[in-house]
Amino acid sequence: MQYKTRDHLVTATYRVNFQVLKSDRFVLLGASGCGKSTLLKAVGGYMMPTEGEIRLKGVPVRGPGPDRMMVFQEFDQLLPWKTVKENVMFALEASGKLKGRAAEDKAMQYIEKVNLADFANNYPHTLSGGMKQRVAIARGMAMEPDILLMDAPQDAG
Ligand SMILES: Nc1ncnc2c1ncn2[C@@H]1O[C@H](COP(=O)(O)OP(=O)(O)OP(=O)(O)O)[C@@H](O)[C@H]1O
Ligand SMILES: [Mg+2]
Repeated sequence: MQYKTRDHLVTATYRVNFQVLKSDRFVLLGASGCGKSTLLKAVGGYMMPTEGEIRLKGVPVRGPGPDRMMVFQEFDQLLPWKTVKENVMFALEASGKLKGRAAEDKAMQYIEKVNLADFANNYPHTLSGGMKQRVAIARGMAMEPDILLMDAPQDAG
């Protein structure tokens, strides 16, 4: 994976090869800047590999999709004008997976899983960084994707 900047070509990862099987918990560990987020973004379909291929169930990844939910490391990923519950419901409704009461029940089920039931009606700006990341984790899990990509979930406590 490479980044092209104005006067540099940054090779963030080089010839990485691994396979993840169903129900695996696969962890990427390495020093800061070694390319973990880059690799995760590539699996999420947000970046294309310079060479080689990423396949999901044998099919090459061409872009993001609801089969790969991603919890990002570095930016505010919740909709600030929606509550915790509405943020989780939004993913379910926008993707057409569930709506109304069914979306609300599913959202609450996963919000409880990440211990945020008491904050379901809070807005993101009233939460800590780790709490916001837990909301993003609940949102990802609620979609019940093939793969949940979590960047630095240890920050979520
Ligand atoms: N948008 C970008 N443009 C140019 N270079 C980038 C960009 N994003 C990351 N890089 C470079 O790619 C390399 C890998 O970055 P990456 O964010 O994948 O590291 P990381 O392993 O996730 O680090 P950390 O543990 O600090 O989160 C670094 O050298 C970084 O400077
Ligand atoms: Mg990172």
